Amino acid sequence: MKLNLKSIALLPFAAALALSCAQTQSDKPVYLDENQPLEARVEDALSRMTIEEKVKILHAQSKFSSAGVPRLGIPELWTTDGPHGIRPEVLWDEWRQAGWTNDSCVAFPALTALAATWNEDMSALYGKSIGEEARFREKDVLLGPGVNIYRTPLNGRNFEYMGEDPYLASKMVVPYIQEVQKNGVAVCVKHYALNNQETLRHQYDAVVDDRTLYEIYLPAFKAAVHEGGAWSIMGSYNLYKGQHVCHNQYLLNDILKKDWGFDGAVISDWGGCHDTDQAITNGLDLEFGTWTDGLTMGATNGYDSYHLADAYLERLRDGRASEEVLNDKARRVLRLIFRTAMRTDKPFGSLCSPEHYDAARQIADEGIVLLKNEASVLPLDATKPGRILVVGENALKMMTVGGGSSSLKVQKEIIPLDGIRAAAGELQVDFERGYVGDVSGAYNGVVTGQDLSESRSAEKLIADACAKAKDADAVIFIGGLNKASFQDCEDSDRFGLELPYNQDAVIEALAQVNPNLAVVIISGNAVAMPWVDKVGAIVEAWYCGSQAGTALADVLFGKVNPSGKLPMTFPVRLEDNGAHALNAYDRKATSVEYKEGIFVGYRWAQKKDVKPLFAFGHGLSYTTFSYSDASVSKASIPANGTLSVSVDVTNTGNREGKEVVQLYIGDDEASVERPVMELKGFRKIALKPGETQKVSFTIEPDMLKFYDVNAADWALEKGTFTAYVGAASDDIRTKVSFEVK
Ligand code: GLC
Repeated sequence: MKLNLKSIALLPFAAALALSCAQTQSDKPVYLDENQPLEARVEDALSRMTIEEKVKILHAQSKFSSAGVPRLGIPELWTTDGPHGIRPEVLWDEWRQAGWTNDSCVAFPALTALAATWNEDMSALYGKSIGEEARFREKDVLLGPGVNIYRTPLNGRNFEYMGEDPYLASKMVVPYIQEVQKNGVAVCVKHYALNNQETLRHQYDAVVDDRTLYEIYLPAFKAAVHEGGAWSIMGSYNLYKGQHVCHNQYLLNDILKKDWGFDGAVISDWGGCHDTDQAITNGLDLEFGTWTDGLTMGATNGYDSYHLADAYLERLRDGRASEEVLNDKARRVLRLIFRTAMRTDKPFGSLCSPEHYDAARQIADEGIVLLKNEASVLPLDATKPGRILVVGENALKMMTVGGGSSSLKVQKEIIPLDGIRAAAGELQVDFERGYVGDVSGAYNGVVTGQDLSESRSAEKLIADACAKAKDADAVIFIGGLNKASFQDCEDSDRFGLELPYNQDAVIEALAQVNPNLAVVIISGNAVAMPWVDKVGAIVEAWYCGSQAGTALADVLFGKVNPSGKLPMTFPVRLEDNGAHALNAYDRKATSVEYKEGIFVGYRWAQKKDVKPLFAFGHGLSYTTFSYSDASVSKASIPANGTLSVSVDVTNTGNREGKEVVQLYIGDDEASVERPVMELKGFRKIALKPGETQKVSFTIEPDMLKFYDVNAADWALEKGTFTAYVGAASDDIRTKVSFEVK
């Protein structure tokens, strides 16, 4: 630094300033100094806290918040549902909404729809957007995303999760987590683990062999921790090895905290904590929702009665509980507070912004799946005059209210009928109800305001729809499931694969009078389609939230070329699903043995050579794509080597489109039974007509391993493997083998 006279003269003042800064710096306790390393701050705060203060931060103080340490200026933690949008404010100890007028939100597409995009950029956009809404609403912990694997198509909460394949869920959950947490909002990845049904969710003990646990049910959570860097995890309601998972030695202490090195906080599901001593010793850090009877009632403001409250204090005082364990819990909760509530450099966030509506639309546009499109029923042409008939309750029923804790109070929700009418151009759009499903529209004090009452009989509804369908240029049936109990709804499972409310009869009748029929299924689960050969086009439109109608119209009218792919198998019948084929899903059983093991979804279908209605990874486009023969960079690799598989993909149609190129790998000679193939890579590419792109995947040893229960570790065996590349698990376009020496 060049010193001149002027700067020399200023030295005393500079020194004094530096000293005073240092003093204020040293005056500020370490735990309050954001320039200090996190662990130093945690230790400093811990050293200043009494036992009472440490216990106080380990349990809820209200329905959705937990205490800080006021004496030290350590703030409370505020949590909020849910995975698809920010829940409306509730009163202190209530589930019902408080009736604020400034807490309406954007409902983003359900996570099944996000998974169906097979596009990690959409996951990042999703996390950024929902994280900004949580931040703006001053929430520190977002109670989502959910990544429980789709074991049975009956599970009421599958719509909140990312499908049947651990690799897809592992890849699609990470950007969501990273982007939410950039807002200074923690995710709380749920429901860890083995919560794969809603029936008896508080009571059933999941009996799963280790290989299945490690290969199918843990990977997405492990990715959430290791790649996503999740700051909190939610324990699930069910049991594993006889212990409730909210306080479980195996899943929490042994695997999550010891093996995976998770440094965040384990938060119980609401009412998931049942035992004081287990809560203390088996890995629970933050207890919510206890003293409730099935979450519908309970001792109001019973927070001191929580297991990690007075009962814990008592054990600490009489020496039955160690301070070391207490300190570990307190450290984890302090880390969560420092990473969120206490962070001062957080962005401001935003609520219901145009960007968030655009994000919701873009994710939905990329997630909607075109399952069938013969005779080019779709896309509809809005440039020519004509008349289309829209039939079905789901064309007008709002889907953002209901379904359990993911229910929302939206600022707006574009229903399918309105989206279609807005995009119809020269076309006249008529509507017929077709059937009556669930006319309710209320949840926890949030009401849709829709009047879905209908006086006509089922027969009359069908007759009226058919009368109008006769001379329509095209008919769009919009049905599926909804968020009512025993449909796609928390705390209940469906009773069967069939469409409810007599929809099959409506579809069959419409197909009779007009072959130009497209069926749109709005659901979070696979459904049976006995009429599949009688309709020209079928679309799976998921629950897409605030922009549902806009995005559906984008696809129906061809404004967007659909590029979604199924994140779960659509079986022809329930028995084609492993859990049901082996009678391993039993609504009365409090011990549920996952007898199908690792053979979940397409793994089962291919093992049993059962042709699905629509396969995992299936999704059509308004254009077509061709694949060249795959090539490998090497014919063989050492056990620790890598190789790449390449394929050229060409858009052979006449309009731009996106294709999800999928890589599956099969182990052709293994000492244990392995699936025919397993998803180990995917890439979504955009191609103009005639354009060709080379897609390359690097194959690494970890992608070839299976979990060896005898070694209690992952194993790679020598021998030949086959790389399958294609547009779906049942649409392999090319394959190539290689050797592991
Ligand atoms: C519910 C759900 C969980 C939710 C929590 C708070 O019962 O299982 O996903 O975040 O309680 O509503």
